[in-house]
Amino acid sequence: MEERMISGELQEDDQSLELSLRPNNLDQYIGQDKAKGNLRIFIEAAKMRNEPLDHVLLYGPPGLGKTTLASIIANEMGVQFRTTSGPAIERAGDLAAILSSLEAGDVLFIDEIHRLPRAVEEILYPAMEDFCLDIVIGSGSSARSVRLDLPPFTLVGATTRAGLLTAPLRDRFGVLSRLEYYETKDLCAIVERTSDIFLVDIDKDAAAEIARRSRGTPRIANRLLKRVRDISQVKGEKQISKETTRTALEMLQVDAAGLDHIDHKLLLGIIDGFRGGPVGLDTISATIGEESQTIEDVYEPFLLQTGFIQRTPRGRQVTMKAYEHFNREVPEA
Ligand code: ADE
Repeated sequence: MEERMISGELQEDDQSLELSLRPNNLDQYIGQDKAKGNLRIFIEAAKMRNEPLDHVLLYGPPGLGKTTLASIIANEMGVQFRTTSGPAIERAGDLAAILSSLEAGDVLFIDEIHRLPRAVEEILYPAMEDFCLDIVIGSGSSARSVRLDLPPFTLVGATTRAGLLTAPLRDRFGVLSRLEYYETKDLCAIVERTSDIFLVDIDKDAAAEIARRSRGTPRIANRLLKRVRDISQVKGEKQISKETTRTALEMLQVDAAGLDHIDHKLLLGIIDGFRGGPVGLDTISATIGEESQTIEDVYEPFLLQTGFIQRTPRGRQVTMKAYEHFNREVPEA
């Protein structure tokens, strides 16, 4: 699958950028007021009691700052931040090694925690609940189980698919925090903050233009800003202007609503091929040459969320908003 400019998924170029932009504490972290407000209270209470913070599950779409928030939790608690991910831990022993190397109070961050192998997940239950490891020594009739104590720690799990978490795992998190798509004003503030860190000046309207086209996602906003900055710099601008921003985003094929050529193909495919629908997913898939599963998991969620398409019992249907966006006449019934 090709990499899209407007994908919330982490891309190779994002990694070093995000590390350099990462806010260090809750005050620097823009938006997500609900999650932030709750965490602030839980962190303060845990510190007053001199206890580690309860285990935290952060869930929501990619690119909204789950990893960033996890690192801020460690900073605010004044403890080490250790990170790994579900698919990186293949065997129970891998996780046992990580757990037994923790120091008291540490934050262990497991990204994509829904992808932990089942056998590994089972190690995590007693670790989370009683801070201990049950390991089996030997095999066959001489096998016996020993219990090792672990230092108390905080597990911060992140997932884009909270629904895929098993109930026993989900139930062991004391704090469940859902990250939401950002409002445009918050994304604007993020674009301005990133510009400051880049040591470039940006016009307010230019920042707002990037914010509006970023699908509620800071990762996308920062990625777009980086490309716009390059183009502005080559043009010799002292301040990133709105005109340059518009031209740059057009070159990058990100339109005024943050839609790209794939969104266009999907929406115009339904408008032009099926009079706006309803049309079945498999039919759309065959017409535009993309797999049904990819359409459903990757392309469609943003279009549904922002009301460009609707799901009906007879298939997908584009909305008035889609017709208006493309300046198309709605066909007669
Ligand atoms: N960069 C990316 N996301 C951010 C956020 N929520 N606050 C501040 N800077 C960010």
